[in-house]
Amino acid sequence: MSEMLDDWPVLPVVISLTTYSSLKSYIDLCCGNVADALESEHHYRICELKLSGIPTSYLERFAGAMRKPFQELTFLRFWVKENTVTSLPDSFLGGSAPLLRQLVLGNCSFPGLPKLLLSANHLHRLSLHRIPDSGYVSPQDLATALSVMSRLESFLLGFRSPRSRPDPASRPPPPLTRSVLPALTRLVFRGVHEYLEDLLAQIEAPLLNKLDVFFFMDVDFVVPQLHQLITHTESFKTCDRAFVCTSYYHAIQFGIFRETNDSPEFSLEIKCRKLDRQLSSLAQVCSPSLLLLSTLVRLDIEDPFIPNPRSYWKDDLETTRWLELMGPFTAVKDLCLSSQVAQYVCQALEELAEERVTEVLPELQNIVLSGFRPLESIPKYIQGFVAARQLSGHPVAVRWRNYSSIRPRSLGAFPSD
Ligand SMILES: *[C@@H]1O[C@H](CO)[C@@H](O)[C@H](O)[C@H]1NC(C)=O
Repeated sequence: MSEMLDDWPVLPVVISLTTYSSLKSYIDLCCGNVADALESEHHYRICELKLSGIPTSYLERFAGAMRKPFQELTFLRFWVKENTVTSLPDSFLGGSAPLLRQLVLGNCSFPGLPKLLLSANHLHRLSLHRIPDSGYVSPQDLATALSVMSRLESFLLGFRSPRSRPDPASRPPPPLTRSVLPALTRLVFRGVHEYLEDLLAQIEAPLLNKLDVFFFMDVDFVVPQLHQLITHTESFKTCDRAFVCTSYYHAIQFGIFRETNDSPEFSLEIKCRKLDRQLSSLAQVCSPSLLLLSTLVRLDIEDPFIPNPRSYWKDDLETTRWLELMGPFTAVKDLCLSSQVAQYVCQALEELAEERVTEVLPELQNIVLSGFRPLESIPKYIQGFVAARQLSGHPVAVRWRNYSSIRPRSLGAFPSD
């Protein structure tokens, strides 16, 4: 290659490597070639370098070859195949990346990243996937780096484990001014809530229109900065519906979206096994101080099919949790429930004594059930609630529709670039 390039005019070079599902001998051949190219005197021509699934056995060689400036580099993807403790050196890319427009790092630890980012003020997209514990960067250092990124449109920050928690002893008070990210439209975060809070306290993103948050389980969630961001983001103000999906032994998902859109503008996933913890965690994040909730007119609650629901749902404990969760949705007119969850949500509503029957979902007009329609059009488990609403002068109609998942397609799918 070197000889061939010598005879050619100076052309930009794009290198792309993906090792997934390849034979070991082929991987060795390809990785060897890429390493040679990085080490060669032509490295300065490389404008795009997309490495997916770097074997850990090549990590050191690649990182070593990249301890120098790549002046023409506009796109770098550096995904390591396994999470390792090996860190990229501070001198990675010679410590500066002035033309870089897209940077995607995955499974790799790079403690010197904030310094590199200070020179990367052409970045449009920054994705940091599955940062290992050894690659922890404080929210303060990250916010300082972000403050120079006037072109950044998409930012993904994902930690591998909940150990990425800011040290409570060294959490400084929020600064008086925030740095504005004038181009940022998309923010994806995966980590612990304290981290997101510390980061959000330092930035402002007036054009944001897509926010995806994944939290690791926690005892309690205190997220005023997140609430403030959602409340003040212009594009979220036109959302009219919300979606809750409990997920068996895994996580609970929540989304806020517009009727015209099938992917949520704001999505939230909380990793947690037990249903009552799933519900109480979600209720903490989606508390009444998230004012947007009180403007939504439709709430969908869905659960995946569970073969033996009794072992999963323990109605007595969860009844209060359901009421607590639905509390902030004071403008909801349509409550849409999938077949299994309907029974439990409706039982929770039935628990409301007659004089309190409009305390939760006061504006409710329709309960829309999906699944097989039984002979009686109003199932037993909801007759009491319907009657009580009728008496209170706030009648509720029960409707049926054929089963169709209203779960937006992209919800829960954590983008992997
Ligand atoms: C990242 O590391 C994890 C754990 O070592 C591994 O399972 C995963 O496949 C890696 N991701 C990619 C995209 O290589």
